Amino acid sequence: MGDTFTLITGASSGMGEATARLLSESRNLILNGRDEERLAAVGEACARNGARVILFPFDLERADAAGAALTDLLGKHGATADAFLHFAGMTEVLPLARTRYAVGLRVMNVNYFSATEMLSALLKKKVNGGALRNVVLTSSIAATGGKLYQPHYCASKGAVTALGMALACELAPRVRVNVIAPGSFRTRIVQTVFADASPDAPWAPDTRLPPGTVEDVARVVRFLLSEDAAYLTGQIINIDGGERFPHF
Ligand SMILES: NC(=O)c1ccc[n+]([C@@H]2O[C@H](COP(=O)([O-])OP(=O)(O)OC[C@H]3O[C@@H](n4cnc5c(N)ncnc54)[C@H](OP(=O)(O)O)[C@@H]3O)[C@@H](O)[C@H]2O)c1
Repeated sequence: MGDTFTLITGASSGMGEATARLLSESRNLILNGRDEERLAAVGEACARNGARVILFPFDLERADAAGAALTDLLGKHGATADAFLHFAGMTEVLPLARTRYAVGLRVMNVNYFSATEMLSALLKKKVNGGALRNVVLTSSIAATGGKLYQPHYCASKGAVTALGMALACELAPRVRVNVIAPGSFRTRIVQTVFADASPDAPWAPDTRLPPGTVEDVARVVRFLLSEDAAYLTGQIINIDGGERFPHF
């Protein structure tokens, strides 16, 4: 598995957790999340698959401190990261006129600025030794398709997509940068939005293919990191089972 690590944010739940579990068969992992109990459980499962695992519990609302915290972690463990997978995300559901600037900042910090700050650290030779080769950022089909009453979330995901395109230009040919744009998946973030999680709830995915699982996302990310995707950079991969197509 080599000596370098894959850094995964949002590894304590949902798509990030599924990706960590899948990649633990072939990669060493640095796992970031907030819920230390869930993060430790994911770490133990990954270690059982043979991965070396470093836990990185850190609240990404403190985006301004995320680069320094990651720098300290890498230094403490003598580790480098060859891949950065950003899954961490949060939302707030309110019409724009009822949102508050402070909450918008929290959404932007977790979804967007934490990625820029950690990437900035990973691109510094004295921090990461030039090890970075792959970046996958998690946007959403909401970045272009919109989502009712989630203005800051949609905007943050638009920013993530644009960041991915900018960095694909900036970092080629050494680093490949791709963006995934998932449709709707039944994970914690959705349950925090809608109390009613029944199949008929308003968020039930209107997909053309049968509803997807977080493992479907994990397999796409594994492909993007692989040699099979060696000529892909600056791509936006919609993982939505055709959800964005209208039914007429
Ligand atoms: N589910 C969907 O329908 C859907 C659709 C499109 C895009 N996405 C995007 O996919 C990504 C993964 O979401 P998911 O569906 O897997 O949801 P999830 O199960 O709720 O996972 C979200 C992850 O983000 C982490 N996170 C949230 N706030 C954080 C903070 N302040 N600091 C550090 N970590 C934080 C959570 O950590 P803790 O649990 O430890 O707090 C958790 O690991 C998100 O970026 C989301 O926006 C999801």
